[in-house]
Amino acid sequence: MKFIKPYLLAITSLLFVNCTSKKEVTSLKNAYKNDFYIGTALSADQIEEKDAKVDSLIRKEFNAITAENIMKSMFVHPQKDKYDFALTEKFVAYGEKNKMFIHGHTLIWHSQLAPWMQKIKDSTEMKAFMKDHITTIVSKYKGRIDSWDVVNEALNEDGTLRKSVFLNTLGESYLIDAFKLAAAADPKVDLYYNDYNNEEPAKRAGNINLIKKIKAGGGKIDGVGIQAHWRLESPSLEEIEKSILEYSALGVKVAFTELDITVLPNPWDLKGADVNQNFEGSAKMNPYPKALPDSIQNKLADRYASIFKLFLKHKDKISRVTFWGVYDGQSWLNGWPIKGRTNYPLLFDTQLISKKAYNSVLELKQPKK
Ligand code: XIL
Repeated sequence: MKFIKPYLLAITSLLFVNCTSKKEVTSLKNAYKNDFYIGTALSADQIEEKDAKVDSLIRKEFNAITAENIMKSMFVHPQKDKYDFALTEKFVAYGEKNKMFIHGHTLIWHSQLAPWMQKIKDSTEMKAFMKDHITTIVSKYKGRIDSWDVVNEALNEDGTLRKSVFLNTLGESYLIDAFKLAAAADPKVDLYYNDYNNEEPAKRAGNINLIKKIKAGGGKIDGVGIQAHWRLESPSLEEIEKSILEYSALGVKVAFTELDITVLPNPWDLKGADVNQNFEGSAKMNPYPKALPDSIQNKLADRYASIFKLFLKHKDKISRVTFWGVYDGQSWLNGWPIKGRTNYPLLFDTQLISKKAYNSVLELKQPKK
């Protein structure tokens, strides 16, 4: 009898483990759990758990979060001597409560800057701002936020440095300094440079130079974020793959940080994600106001499948894939670069129902029998 008991225990616990793993809910985060984090951007309402249905979808499908807006300087640091951490606190608590990977977006960015920052003209004042801003925010969440976008969108399309208020006042050393300040405030947190179109050859070359410069200058940089605001036909898988390979050859992690795929025409073939660009709307530019035709739904599913297939091929180099929003109804692409359109860029529709593209991403991990 003495020996039977431990045996029984072992057998029942084995059975239990088996049952629970079989019962594991099908979801993006579970399907990809051995590959990379699957994240989503959260709006202020989602951080505040205002809609229970949306909230349970977030908790079911995603294991990483980024704040879509509330950590940008205009919200978190609206005046020189005033920080507003009310929503940031809720965001971090939400991630902790749900055991999610928490990404901070973003410390140094020329867009959505607080008006007082835009007025800084003098290098001493800008240096003081950077030190105060980065040190205050990163130290506050030391050990709780897992990675930061230290600098966002510092490059032009040709790979040169954008003439932002930071470059104009401080010269290019601001880039190295930003990474040094962040590492000093939390030596263990992962630090990223994040941009759009940095999978395109010229901008990628500029980004590679930038990473090398930051490293050569003594800055700690752990990863590069490719925003991935993409289209049905572009960028090509070849350019995406080259980017994964070339960036990781520098010894940095690659994250796809703001993934969405527009199905709408872009004005003048606009590429990228400059949030300051806006254009006039017209019926021609909003072709699917009621529903997405099946043919495009299928195209979107195929595009997502081929992108995730590539991600899986290079999963050892990829840390995280984050969607820019939970479902189509809330996507920023309904309002940018033309206001009032109906776009379909994500894996869940306006009713929170999974789309064909969702299945195509899941099926890569759970092939149909
Ligand atoms: C966007 C948000 O989604 C919008 O709600 C906001 O109005 C503008 O910014 N690149 C970035 C993100 O790094 O912060 C931007 O987010 C999209 C482009």
